Amino acid sequence: MFDPIEKLKQYISLQSVSTDSSFKEGMNQTRDFVSDVFNQMGLNVEIVDTPLHPIVVAKREGEPSWPHVIIYGHYDVQPVDPIELWDSNPFEAVIKDGRIYGRGAADNKGPQMAHIAAVAELLEAYPELPLRLTFVIEGEEEIGSPNLLPFLKERKEELAEADLVLLSDTLSPSAEQVAITVGLRGIVALEVELTGPNSDLHSGLHGGAVYNPAQALCELCASLHDKDNRVNVPGFYDDVASVEDWEREELKRLGIEEVAYKKSLGINSFHTHPGYSPFEAVRYLPTLEFNGLGSGYQGEGSKTIVPSKAFAKITCRLVANQDPVKIGNLVKQTILDRIPDGITAEIEAGHEGIPYLVVPPHRENSPANYPSRLEQAFDAADSAIAEEFGKAPLFLREGGSIPIIADIKSELGLDSLMIGLFLPEDKIHAPNESMDLSMLTRGIKASKKILANLAGIG
Ligand code: BES
Ligand code: MN
Repeated sequence: MFDPIEKLKQYISLQSVSTDSSFKEGMNQTRDFVSDVFNQMGLNVEIVDTPLHPIVVAKREGEPSWPHVIIYGHYDVQPVDPIELWDSNPFEAVIKDGRIYGRGAADNKGPQMAHIAAVAELLEAYPELPLRLTFVIEGEEEIGSPNLLPFLKERKEELAEADLVLLSDTLSPSAEQVAITVGLRGIVALEVELTGPNSDLHSGLHGGAVYNPAQALCELCASLHDKDNRVNVPGFYDDVASVEDWEREELKRLGIEEVAYKKSLGINSFHTHPGYSPFEAVRYLPTLEFNGLGSGYQGEGSKTIVPSKAFAKITCRLVANQDPVKIGNLVKQTILDRIPDGITAEIEAGHEGIPYLVVPPHRENSPANYPSRLEQAFDAADSAIAEEFGKAPLFLREGGSIPIIADIKSELGLDSLMIGLFLPEDKIHAPNESMDLSMLTRGIKASKKILANLAGIG
């Protein structure tokens, strides 16, 4: 059996930035590393090529009557920029004060290692373990998984007969309080470009005669929310699913103070819909966010122009029951309706992802014919987490997105058991990303218990 922390150190040292083509070699090395790990574990490994980054599939086959778990993870990571803000080399894992530092430590190499190590330990202890496993480790999660859905469609027959998907690529509130994630927000991205005059103009010669596109952009953006921070797009909230009482109760047990949250963000006030706490707003409500705005002169000093163009990059986070295509079209049409004479607009649609919600068993709104192995997995996770982390998990929706999880549900009919193993202080996507090693070691033990229970030996 390998040492999971040593393996994780090697994994982090491999430079798997999926969005940047200059990391092609690092992507290849990481793909080979992942497949070697599975080979050493005695699994049947297959590298599935795609138009961009391959998917590593590793299987342990067995009797058709055995439970079948798909374990999902991603071997790609976010870019490291701004590199000067890192205290150590992002591709050389450093262990300090019980944390392992490096790009991908928390998102997603470390949490994923919990399940890989759990399976390795289990198979060593019980070579005859009556459990079928399929690892699907993709290399394109951080760029929106463009080639995973076609893979799911192609392999539908062999994958859809699994019982559930197990993964750790979500957040827990603290090292003492683990969350099982039961909802992810969806997403739809748009890019708006406004054009006024056909060139930047001298603002003295022409200012006052033309509609300035920077001004038009400000007016447009300002029109997209009301003073209570509701999105001011007709129909935007029509399909939003209601929130169950048990969900609000669960969230109250979270125990994080609004004051502490405010302080951690460096703000003096929240800006949420009336009737929603900030913790509710990020989970239960959709948003429209400006991710980037630009127009005119950005350099030092001043420049007296009327710019020719202005742009906005927008994403909407969506909640259960909202359709990204429908919302994308609504927002697009609303923007077009608000473009004044003298300005033309071009709107380009970006990536999209469907929101996801899974109701755990034993709740008022749990589906009647709950799949028995999914129920068993949720129950096993509940008690395994209580035993290993000292406290029962909270079942919470999360504000982030993993669009492929909803695709897995609609394409394969499978739900996901998501165990949060990264923490708010882990700085995912940011400089000095790290993972708490106690989350890894306890995560391995919890994962082993869940899988053993499903196999009928725990
Ligand atoms: N692991 C995150 C998703 C996540 C973040 C879940 C925080 C729960 C809490 C994932 O790798 C990610 O960053 N997803 C992107 C998706 C986007 C590129 C479509 C996101 O949420 O922005
Ligand atoms: Mn990520």
